[in-house]
Amino acid sequence: MLNIVLFGPPGAGKGTQSQNLIQQYNLVHLSTGDILRGEISNGTPLGLEAKKLMDQGLLVPDEVVIGMISNKLDSNKDAKGFIFDGFPRTVAQAEALDQVLASKNDAISAMIALEVNEVELEKRLLIRGKDSGRPDDQNPEIIRKRVQEYTSKTAPVANFYKAQSKFYSVAGIGTIDGIFTAIKAVVEKL
Ligand code: AP5
Repeated sequence: MLNIVLFGPPGAGKGTQSQNLIQQYNLVHLSTGDILRGEISNGTPLGLEAKKLMDQGLLVPDEVVIGMISNKLDSNKDAKGFIFDGFPRTVAQAEALDQVLASKNDAISAMIALEVNEVELEKRLLIRGKDSGRPDDQNPEIIRKRVQEYTSKTAPVANFYKAQSKFYSVAGIGTIDGIFTAIKAVVEKL
C-alpha cells in the first residue's frame, strides 16, 4: 500500500496536489476538510458543531476527525493506498492513525510537506475566497488564525514522521506541474 500524508499550512496546495497524486497512482483521497464541509452542507449535527469552529479558523476535536478517518478506511478496503490531506493535524491524530493502520497490517509510507511562506498563503486564500464562498477564506484575521493553529498544533506533527524517517520536504511555490514533478520524485523513491 502507498499511504501518503500530504502536509503543509492552509493554502499550501495540499488539495491541488492530492488531485494529481490520486490520478497518477490510483489512490483514494481522504481530506478531513472536505468531509467536514460535506457534513456542513448536509446539515448534520456533527457538521453544525464543526462549522462553529471552522468559521473561526480553529481545529475540530481530535476524536471527531479520527472517527471520520477510521470509517473511511473501513469503507475503502480495496484501495491501493490513500492520500491523507489535512490529516493528521495534531500529534494525537498521528498516533491514532498509526494505530488504526497497524490494526490493518498497514502503515504510512511517507509524509510530504509543502513549504510555502505566510505572505503567499494569505494571498492564495484571499484570492480563492472571492470565488469559493469558503467562510474561512474571506477574512485575513481568520486566515491568520488558521496559520496560528497550524504553527502551534500541526507543525509538530512533522517531528512525529521525522522520528520514523518518513519526512520529505518539497518547495510549494512555483507552477503546479513543477511542484508535482518534485512530489513524484519523492514518491518514486519510496
Ligand atoms: P482544510 O479543508 O484541510 O483546509 P486547509 O488546511 O486550511 O487547507 P486548504 O484547503 O485551504 O489549502 P490546501 O493546502 O489544500 O491548498 P489548495 O490546494 O486548496 O481544513 C479546513 C478546516 O477544517 C480547518 O481549519 C479545521 O477547522 C477543520 N479541519 C480539517 N481537518 C482537520 C483535522 N484533521 N483536525 C481538526 N480540524 C480539521 O490551494 C489553495 C489555493 O491556492 C487554491 O486556490 C489553489 O488553486 C491555489 N494554489 C495551489 N497551488 C498553487 C501554486 N503552486 N501556485 C499558486 N496557487 C496555487
